[in-house]
Amino acid sequence: MYPVSLLLLGLISSASAKSVKSPTPPMGWNTYNAYNCNPSEQKVKLNAQGLVDLGLNKLGYNIVTPDCGWNAQSRDSSNKLQWNTTLFPSGGKALGDYLHGLGLKFGLYSGAGYLQCGSAVIPGSLGYEDIDARSFSSWGGDSLKYDNCYATSKTTMVDSDSAEAKSPARFQKMETSLEAVDRPFQYFICQWGIGENVGEWASKIGNTWRMSNDIYNAWRSIWRITNQVVPYWRNTRPGAFPDMDMLLVGLNVLSAEEERFHFGMWAINKSPLMLGGILDSKLSKTSLAIMSNKEVIAINQDSLAKQAQLVRRYTVEEWDIWLGELSGSRKVIGIANWRNQSQTVSVDLASLGIASATVRDVWAAKNVGTLSGTQNVKLAAHELKLWVLTNITTASTLSSTYYEAASAKLAGGSSVTTCSYGDCLPAGKKVGNIGSGFTVTFNSVTAKSTKAVVGVDFINYDYAFTTAWDWGSNTRNMTIAVNGGSAKRWAFPLSGEDWYQTGRLNVEIDGLKVGSGSNSIVFANVGTVWAPDLVGIEVFG
Ligand code: GAL
Repeated sequence: MYPVSLLLLGLISSASAKSVKSPTPPMGWNTYNAYNCNPSEQKVKLNAQGLVDLGLNKLGYNIVTPDCGWNAQSRDSSNKLQWNTTLFPSGGKALGDYLHGLGLKFGLYSGAGYLQCGSAVIPGSLGYEDIDARSFSSWGGDSLKYDNCYATSKTTMVDSDSAEAKSPARFQKMETSLEAVDRPFQYFICQWGIGENVGEWASKIGNTWRMSNDIYNAWRSIWRITNQVVPYWRNTRPGAFPDMDMLLVGLNVLSAEEERFHFGMWAINKSPLMLGGILDSKLSKTSLAIMSNKEVIAINQDSLAKQAQLVRRYTVEEWDIWLGELSGSRKVIGIANWRNQSQTVSVDLASLGIASATVRDVWAAKNVGTLSGTQNVKLAAHELKLWVLTNITTASTLSSTYYEAASAKLAGGSSVTTCSYGDCLPAGKKVGNIGSGFTVTFNSVTAKSTKAVVGVDFINYDYAFTTAWDWGSNTRNMTIAVNGGSAKRWAFPLSGEDWYQTGRLNVEIDGLKVGSGSNSIVFANVGTVWAPDLVGIEVFG
């Protein structure tokens, strides 16, 4: 029997729960990508009307958010945030009413620090969380994007190494404040994925969490954010979605093929779909068709809410295979061509566990028929082919042997770490410091044919933040050489949420000798840069 007070507490907390966890990723439009920190009433209204006129609201895009720059430089005499009346002459309540009148939702924006991002004067919510949550509610807000600037002072906008910026505490505080107001809010955490275990804590309190630094108007930021989202499948579920940032579709900064790739990659990873382009008559018809593609949106909005996983990477050949589960025993396969040229790739369905399936090519809007075995797939430069699979029959699983890195032959100074219980799985140990001239050699590896799929269990938490708009990619390279053959490079994405959570990259190796214990496989870093840590390898065959 529980004490009455505890029972009461339980009742009170569930009765007053105000945060809304949407069952599928939120969709909408936000001012930032097109207007930076210069939103206005007129710009918000134009784009809100655009959502309606273009039929985008009917497809699910319904949250409209004025991002940074909406508020005045000072609070009022009761410490309430005030709208910038030059930019928003009618104020917050009127804007909320206007959006609601169009059948849309009103997204608010603030931050967990002293000042707002993109400004040296506009206040953030630190210390005023309760007052601000009440204001957001009084204006009719339906969601809050909560940013992470000026965490330590009023002078440093981005202090991404500080304990304050990495800590969940300020984001938790605002969640408590939102819970206390009399209006449901979707809470969009914009902490940028810095520090450790962000997916774990943020998925508990937020509807979405930004897991990267900002998207940048260039193709390379698609590679960077994609490599960073990989580990978050563990936290993604109905009500909890990794936010890969607002879409570049419609901003005229990517080619049409790249826009399809970007939109499709965000969709299969269950990212929110927040438009950033200006929704007026100048919007390209191609971009409109991409953001309006019902089948791709349906993948994103699938009721299972499972993030796709990176299941194969061919680094030198520059392509990946992604596989995700959909409701109704369906799956989605994404075949991603990172190469700047077209190429034809071979996809062995059986090695993905699929004996046969009926395939729909989503972007081509064509039924391909029933496929089995190895498929040759022609991909345009920067194309993401999306297949939805139904009527799937499962291929028999291959046998495998596991080799722990800690038991391999180490040369040149790499070191073994014994990890805490539950870490560095499955071995519980990892080999780290794989740097210049260091090698990890697995001897006596058994193979059943000359080629094999190898699941490489690795750890990489070298996330790109300060290098994000430059060439930071969230990958670390490692080479694999088989039986004295040439060392081939593989790019490992982030593996988990700290330096102890293992990820797996499945690669295909060649040059094996058939037989028990007859092979040697050598792992090494590239140049003078650290490789990821290595936990072990599972050789299939
Ligand atoms: C960043 C945030 C962006 C945008 C920007 C405004 O911190 O990640 O999405 O809101 O601030 O300056």
